[in-house]
Amino acid sequence: MRWPSVPARSSSAELRLTIFGTGYLGITHAACMASLGFEVLGVDTDADKVRTLSAGMVPIYEPGLPELLKAELATGRLRFTSSYEEAAAFGHVHFICTGTPQLPGGGAADLSQVRSCVGALAPLLRPESLVVGKSTVPVGTARALAGYLAEVGQQAELAWNPEFLREGTAVKDTLAPDRIVAGVTSRRAEDVLRQVYAPLLAAGTAFFSTTLETAELAKVAANAFLATKISFINAMAEVCEAAGANVRELSAILGADPRIGPKFLHAGLGFGGGCLPKDIRGFMSRAAELGVESAVELLREVDKINLRRRSRTADLALELAGGDLVGVRVCVLGAAFKPGSDDVRDSPALDVAQILHGLGAHVTVYDPVAAANAARACPELTYADSVEAAAAGACVVLLLTEWPQFTELRPADLAQAVGRKNIIDARNALRPQVWQEAGWKYRAPGVGEHASTRALL
Ligand code: UDX
Repeated sequence: MRWPSVPARSSSAELRLTIFGTGYLGITHAACMASLGFEVLGVDTDADKVRTLSAGMVPIYEPGLPELLKAELATGRLRFTSSYEEAAAFGHVHFICTGTPQLPGGGAADLSQVRSCVGALAPLLRPESLVVGKSTVPVGTARALAGYLAEVGQQAELAWNPEFLREGTAVKDTLAPDRIVAGVTSRRAEDVLRQVYAPLLAAGTAFFSTTLETAELAKVAANAFLATKISFINAMAEVCEAAGANVRELSAILGADPRIGPKFLHAGLGFGGGCLPKDIRGFMSRAAELGVESAVELLREVDKINLRRRSRTADLALELAGGDLVGVRVCVLGAAFKPGSDDVRDSPALDVAQILHGLGAHVTVYDPVAAANAARACPELTYADSVEAAAAGACVVLLLTEWPQFTELRPADLAQAVGRKNIIDARNALRPQVWQEAGWKYRAPGVGEHASTRALL
């Protein structure tokens, strides 16, 4: 096999990429890199997953990804394998995209998948190859892995290139990112990453070359900031409820200040998913190891405010049901942690459904795409296959994930089905006055019973 010297390479056809781990990040990165013209080999130890992906099927719901995967498989540029030997012999640049979930019983990140991937790959690597971490890891992980590679990895180098994609817009976020961050220890590694992302850089994407540590921190700090912004407005929702103010109007006013901005300032049921909750906990855990726990102490409050949204929403349902939920039918609209995704990891919606179930309610859930995942995670709940079926005889309807088909609901769509006209708009996604005028008891976070909503109508 010819092994061209990396800096001399000028076209994507010469640079071959491998992607280890085929979760959200890995599948998206593999398909997107193939669409840029690279030959790409996706690697997963799970042979079933390799078979599924090779057949053009994406095991997750991600708009646009199945089409892209099929198209790139058809070009022959994209393949999948379980063999590390094949991958090491094939690739010049190896992206590590394995998961880093929260350790059970603690806040720290579980690095076992990243470690076993790099551990298995290192002795097989060709000299001069570049290993690029994309997984979200505690700061300091990359430096330790770089040391390991220097010992075992045939002079292979390590870089860190965090990924900021969001579920639901993963393809767009990968092919048109806000910025590319390259944590590197040499000019050569930076040149390789510039070459990989050349079409995106040519389109004007900002490129930040920095240290391994800053690159790792860029990801967790960004997620910590986003989580803080959401919890800030949810804290304001609590104040609004006590003071009789309206958090929707407050958010619009705050967001009009360009120094603050309107994004991630939507008060509701708070954040969930596979990233924000575990990343802030992992960050606190790592900061404690570094002796700077107090520097990120505010994240503990961010986490608490966020979790309080869930118990507060369940309290509202209890209140609307007259203080007793035993045997009461409750309709839950939404199970995914956000619309546009079938991911139910740390889903606020499912959490609320489970709390209500624990209080004795008969909970029926409907979600347009996440029902199967929800049923696997929470088999004790009942699942319906339409809004109407979920709402049948319900004493309280809770809108917990703002799928468009829920936010477009009109009171008349539910009036015949429900037992009582009580609705909790936990995502602040409906027009309060429309429901109140139709005779519904309407509740939403930070929007008092009688708060003015005129500006939103
Ligand atoms: C997040 C980061 O945005 C992304 O950059 C990172 O790579 C992975 O983590 P994701 O988990 O896909 O992405 O979801 P995101 O769109 O950020 O939403 C996170 C959660 O916050 C959702 O549960 C959403 O409902 C909630 N949210 C978001 C709010 O409650 N209010 C808001 O204003 C915005």
